[in-house]
Amino acid sequence: MPSSKKSTSSEERRKRYRILTFGCQMNAHDTERMSGLLEAEGYSLATSPEEAGVILVNTCAVRPKAESKAYSAIGRLRKLKNEHPPTIIGVCGCIAQSEGEKIFARMPYVDFVLGPRSLGELRRLIRQVERQRVRAACLDDTSISGKLPIKRAHPYRAWVTIMEGCDNCCTYCIVPYVRGREDSRPLSDILGEVCGLAREGYKEVTFLGQNVNSYGRGLADRANLARLLELAAEVPGIERLRFVTSHPKDLSYELMQVMANIPQVCEHLHLPLQSGSDKVLRAMNRKYAGADYLEKLRLLRELIPEISITTDVMVGFPGETEEDFAQTLEVVEAAQFDTLFSFIYSDRPHTVSAGMGNKIPREIAQPRFMRLLELQDRITKEHQARQLGKTEQVLVEGKNQRLPEYQDHISDDPGSHDHGVQLTGRTRGNRLVHFSGLEGLLGKLVWVKITRASQHCLMGELHPSQK
Ligand code: SAH
Ligand code: SF4
Ligand code: F3S
Repeated sequence: MPSSKKSTSSEERRKRYRILTFGCQMNAHDTERMSGLLEAEGYSLATSPEEAGVILVNTCAVRPKAESKAYSAIGRLRKLKNEHPPTIIGVCGCIAQSEGEKIFARMPYVDFVLGPRSLGELRRLIRQVERQRVRAACLDDTSISGKLPIKRAHPYRAWVTIMEGCDNCCTYCIVPYVRGREDSRPLSDILGEVCGLAREGYKEVTFLGQNVNSYGRGLADRANLARLLELAAEVPGIERLRFVTSHPKDLSYELMQVMANIPQVCEHLHLPLQSGSDKVLRAMNRKYAGADYLEKLRLLRELIPEISITTDVMVGFPGETEEDFAQTLEVVEAAQFDTLFSFIYSDRPHTVSAGMGNKIPREIAQPRFMRLLELQDRITKEHQARQLGKTEQVLVEGKNQRLPEYQDHISDDPGSHDHGVQLTGRTRGNRLVHFSGLEGLLGKLVWVKITRASQHCLMGELHPSQK
């Protein structure tokens, strides 16, 4: 009967969800937690937002571009809601926390707003909206723990949150306002999660936090990141350990030694510089000088010669003069980063810098940004070219979704079909590598000889012993 068919499909739709995710790895991991919560309640992933009964937008507020991307995504859902009014639309993540109930005024078709420190309230909110059809917001700090179910996006590498929030007050940054105070998870909780991951066959763990170098502050068991890495390395089956993000002021010599001495800890560090001018660094409240930063890099490279260092740099901070910017270029040249993520400063709500005078107009900031990109492009090319001929350990993470342009070249090789499919993975230095091999290698650590290099990835061949 058509009517009962209709009600079944509507019921099926009610239990399907879709999450659109923006922002950093913390957000990506929150999406894994929200998926876990929903699936524990019997929801399953819809193939598209059109087929979902619950749609969540996990937003980022760090820069205006990230914010406008999230707002357009929410905007596109309006049509879906009009066509199918029972659809539940939730705005989560950092815009949710920053804007709160104001989102309802701007986008009346949104049903609930959920802050990143209250993920545990997700099911309650959905139930409330379903039953009472009233809008609801939850922005409290209900201290989410590692106890929430998690549906992980990757089968071989996993994110593990070691701390929430951030206690640094970088004057430009909205994160402490939206993510709350720093709160470290106890060592035993984290290690329990790592052991569980090892049992499930995970090979690589990335510890997550806004400033992982201050992990352990306020905990009783003398926990710090170095100790956590040492203990996690003892878990059988976990072959690679990584951590993001580090703050230069808290990067200790003890941690550098652990990175050098523990084989599981990968030779990669993301260490945001932000600026090379001491005056600007002071105004940003970063609590280090350009020379301190370079000295830490020198020590790191002395201990770990192969280490790959990536960074974030911001141009056009209020009051940045041509001289300040020239100092940034000097430090970037001296630091020889493998990759650099660059941003043009913009005012964010709640931040100290938003109230500063001496704003740098776009016409000045944009050419500085371009000069920084040009400098780093050259350095990145040199680093990538230096990888040629090396044999690197790669964790085989997946099959190539989008075949890169060198595919033609490879398929010219008459023996290529014997090599199986296009595989992709990352080196210990976190460089992306494509190579051909058998599907059975997925999830394995293999050795790959690097044969070609482009700006964003490397191409290689499996070491003969592994074909
Ligand atoms: N906790 C991390 C991530 C912060 S956000 C850290 O401490 O590095 C990621 C990057 O966004 C920052 O490193 C910074 O370069 C950039 N960013 C943050 N606020 C910004 C703003 N107001 N304008 C432009 N870029 C910003
Ligand atoms: Fe923002 Fe600074 Fe905290 Fe990073 S360390 S999240 S830049 S306040
Ligand atoms: Fe964005 Fe929030 Fe991460 S503001 S960068 S998603 S902590």
